[in-house]
Amino acid sequence: MIDENTVGAGALSRDGVAADVALAEVRRLRAGDRPTHGGRLFAYVYDPAVPGLDDLAAAAHRESAHVNGLDPTAFPSLLAMENALVGAAGRVLGGGPGTTAPDVVGSVTSGGTESLILAVKAARDAHPEISAPRIVVPSSAHAAFAKAAHYLRVALDVVPVSVETLRPDPAALAAAIRPETVLVACSAPSYAHGVVDPVAEIAAAAADAGVRCHVDACFGGWTLPYLRRLGEPVPAFDFSVPGVTSISVDLHKYAYAPKGVSVLLHRDAALRAPQYFAYADWPGYTMINPVIASTRSGGPIAAAYATLRHLGDAGYLRLAAVTRDAVAGLADAVRAVDGLRLLAEPESTVVCFTATEGGPDLFVLVDELTARGWHTQPQLSYAGLPASVHLTVTASVAPRVAEFGPDLTDAVAAARAAGPVRLPAELAALVGALSPEALTPDLVVGLAAGLGLGDGGPDDGDGPAGGPLPERMALVNTLLDAAPPALRERLLVEFVGLLQRPAWGSDD
Ligand SMILES: Cc1ncc(COP(=O)(O)O)c(C=O)c1O
Repeated sequence: MIDENTVGAGALSRDGVAADVALAEVRRLRAGDRPTHGGRLFAYVYDPAVPGLDDLAAAAHRESAHVNGLDPTAFPSLLAMENALVGAAGRVLGGGPGTTAPDVVGSVTSGGTESLILAVKAARDAHPEISAPRIVVPSSAHAAFAKAAHYLRVALDVVPVSVETLRPDPAALAAAIRPETVLVACSAPSYAHGVVDPVAEIAAAAADAGVRCHVDACFGGWTLPYLRRLGEPVPAFDFSVPGVTSISVDLHKYAYAPKGVSVLLHRDAALRAPQYFAYADWPGYTMINPVIASTRSGGPIAAAYATLRHLGDAGYLRLAAVTRDAVAGLADAVRAVDGLRLLAEPESTVVCFTATEGGPDLFVLVDELTARGWHTQPQLSYAGLPASVHLTVTASVAPRVAEFGPDLTDAVAAARAAGPVRLPAELAALVGALSPEALTPDLVVGLAAGLGLGDGGPDDGDGPAGGPLPERMALVNTLLDAAPPALRERLLVEFVGLLQRPAWGSDD
């Protein structure tokens, strides 16, 4: 809760507050967050646990925070750093001088989602003659492709992945290509399960059809090449593969840069050209944007630049080795527990497990792990795939691995003892019968209250909006798991809408 005296109208205090007070407020609010450091958080945050790296990135961010990426001629520092980041990413991913892809170019974006939206935009706008463009993606592709399709009014053709291999059949992807298809996409690896798609076959099929092929390496593009150098059997997925026309890699994931930096690479400048937006038909400056945002802070770019310069190739190789060992240790811990099984053998930096027949309720298990200080990510059942628990493993986890096994055993025992969450009969009936369109605001508030989500009522002016989530999320997850995807989407939009309410502050 924010001190009343400091708050006049939300964040806008009457006379302003001292700098140390403002900072103390931020710190107090941050204290309620999941721990970003310490190796016990398996999603959202990528922490290499390298001493001094946070300070370096923060200092570099500060240097360039007010620099504007809107105009590279006004701020050549930013252009130079972006070009250096693109060059590094291009080299890591099989492009550049002396390779089979010497003409790779790219852009720095704000994140994986923006990179994917732009890959779809470039593919769409390369074909103005196609009035109803389509893209083909495996069902394991990141949801950002669906967002891109939605934003850009491109139809999405989803090809299911095998429930055994969690990969798409390249022949099925090839068969889904139509005359209106402008892009075929695949993942290296998929976020949910960490498996690498058969990129070579998919890219060949796309090339045969004369269609672009994007490899979404947002998650793994900075680790797979290093894992290969460490001797792991990583299949070819980069620009060395004929037919791959673009690749995305997020520097704010395994390049361990602070948030806000991804790179979208194209095999050559002609492929990138339709990504740009230019507009001169107004009285102001001619707008020429390679990415979605126009005004962009130089902070994240400078922070990423400093991070890469400091860690270097040897640093990333070392961090990949540490992470690989942590993955192996966590996977062993899962294998050792009766009632759990790996959904996929780890081949990147994800450990994903599910319950066996008669095993513990996974959503209760996730809560039990949270109670023991381990923050994992539950994944709902989907299209024949069981519910699962996702662990994104970063280098910071390594020193914690030995503690995970005993806690997992303990948490499984507790989840078994507690038994599965049972939805109250009226909630189960509601979810079974409800269509997304039938969800009224009253129904949402009632549901949210029943689940212990926020208070759903008007802001009381007492601190930032967003009521606390229940300590245990198993009931919420069980309800969502029982709902079909369209209802899950609608329910979550409504629940998040309830949390996002203005904090008006007091009228003192
Ligand atoms: C494979 C993959 N693609 C795209 C994204 C989207 O990235 P962002 O959250 O940076 O927009 C993610 C995020 O986890 C990802 O794992």
